[in-house]
Amino acid sequence: MNIGIVASEAFPFAKTGGLADVAGALFKNFGEMEHKTYLFMPLYKITKSKFFDLKLQRNFKVKIGYNEVEGQILTKEVYPNSIAVFIKQNNYFDRDELYGVKGVDYADNAERFGFFDKAVLKAIDLLNLNLDVLHLNDWQTGLVPFFAKEKGISSKVIFTIHNLAYQGNFDVSILDTLNIDKSHYNMNELEFYGKVSFIKAGIVFADYITTVSPTYAKEILTTEFGERLEGILNTKKDRLFGILNGIDYETWDPAKDDQVFIKYDKTTLERKRENKKMLVKELGLKEYDYPLFGMVSRIVSQKGFDILIDSLNEFLSWKVNIVILGTGEKKYEDVLKNFEALYPNKIKIIIGFDEKIAHKIYAGSDFFLMPSKYEPCGLGQLIALRYGTLPIVHETGGLKDTIDNYNGYTRCGNGILFDEYNKEALKNAIERAIMLYEDGKNFNKLRNNAMNCNFSWESSAKRYIELFSKR
Ligand code: ADP
Ligand code: GLC
Repeated sequence: MNIGIVASEAFPFAKTGGLADVAGALFKNFGEMEHKTYLFMPLYKITKSKFFDLKLQRNFKVKIGYNEVEGQILTKEVYPNSIAVFIKQNNYFDRDELYGVKGVDYADNAERFGFFDKAVLKAIDLLNLNLDVLHLNDWQTGLVPFFAKEKGISSKVIFTIHNLAYQGNFDVSILDTLNIDKSHYNMNELEFYGKVSFIKAGIVFADYITTVSPTYAKEILTTEFGERLEGILNTKKDRLFGILNGIDYETWDPAKDDQVFIKYDKTTLERKRENKKMLVKELGLKEYDYPLFGMVSRIVSQKGFDILIDSLNEFLSWKVNIVILGTGEKKYEDVLKNFEALYPNKIKIIIGFDEKIAHKIYAGSDFFLMPSKYEPCGLGQLIALRYGTLPIVHETGGLKDTIDNYNGYTRCGNGILFDEYNKEALKNAIERAIMLYEDGKNFNKLRNNAMNCNFSWESSAKRYIELFSKR
């Protein structure tokens, strides 16, 4: 099968969150399954700074308003069968960030990604790629199904929702910018509460829709999680599937990870303790013996920062260490930094995006905090399991599908779940974690349970292929 994956970010080329992990892993896995796989993404500044061997294939022009905007198509064969196709347009993509600065989106994101969507179809045409399937991801690629149908392209079109809250809704003037006929501005096509919605376009014009966990696939059909798109999603629910994300077991493997202090596996957990010791030291925290709670996350309300911040005073009065790595909304970053100033021996806040520190936190922590308000799938908890770090999660979306609550009697489970989204429930979960930590034997049993889980891509990649093959 010839597959084209389209995404606004993909590991290892550019990453701000889980979308990059998923797009990068599927690109690799489909290729390994001997499907010819192309990954289309913008050529960002960060990608250019890390990859120098990209091959120029073609120059092209795309109509934007009255202008013909020029761009270039570059490629790189990354794995046998897996070829990355980059859309270069420096005015749009040669910027310091992918989507915006300090939590504020670039003002021309609609034009940038509208251009990208047109350019992808142009590249498919110019490179003569005969694609059986086009696999689009999130709102940035939402107009591809629309343009593909307009052009009469015969590839099967799958649209994957990684996060329904990010919709790409823009002023109606984007229709002129992208030369889209106004007749498409109606409630059955592109119109959404007075705006043009890229994500709605993806949902409406795709042949199948998927999202990244079975529970989130059900949740988004409700008003609570549907983000006002539950109506349209319900009309297509026989074409909506939840396929659970995996993680790349080569990138994330404590036994082979060059970015952790000391490599380990489930038979050498004492080395995990060495990782913790060195991490605690590097972070400048004081007591090595306290349980270390780690967090690696975008700092946005989705991730549960309101209830976490509300419980921090009490949390920090206990014998604990906390490390949070992330970047996002300034209001949360500032409050977290204040806590660090008040309790410098117990909590370290690292603002930024840093792969290496992330690996050290996954390896060195005892528990991984993920109190997300909602979570389409979540990869942080899966990475934590792989590193024997026990996730503490709110029972929602993919967190519910992947974490089994620890049972003190049967010693089953792989983490700690709390069901109500409030600070009391979170504090109670942390208390349970501390008790478990103090009971060394059960703690080790649970770590083993965690490391025995398998959330590699194997079965989920097959499910995508089954869907791609469906009539
Ligand atoms: P989301 O996609 O909603 O941000 P996921 O849990 O699905 O959440 O995926 C997040 C991914 O991004 C994980 O691979 C995580 O390790 C990584 N990540 C998040 N924030 C940072 C950061 N500040 N530095 C390094 N990696 C990060
Ligand atoms: C989104 C979601 C996250 C999911 C990721 C990859 O960013 O917030 O839950 O794991 O996409 O699908």
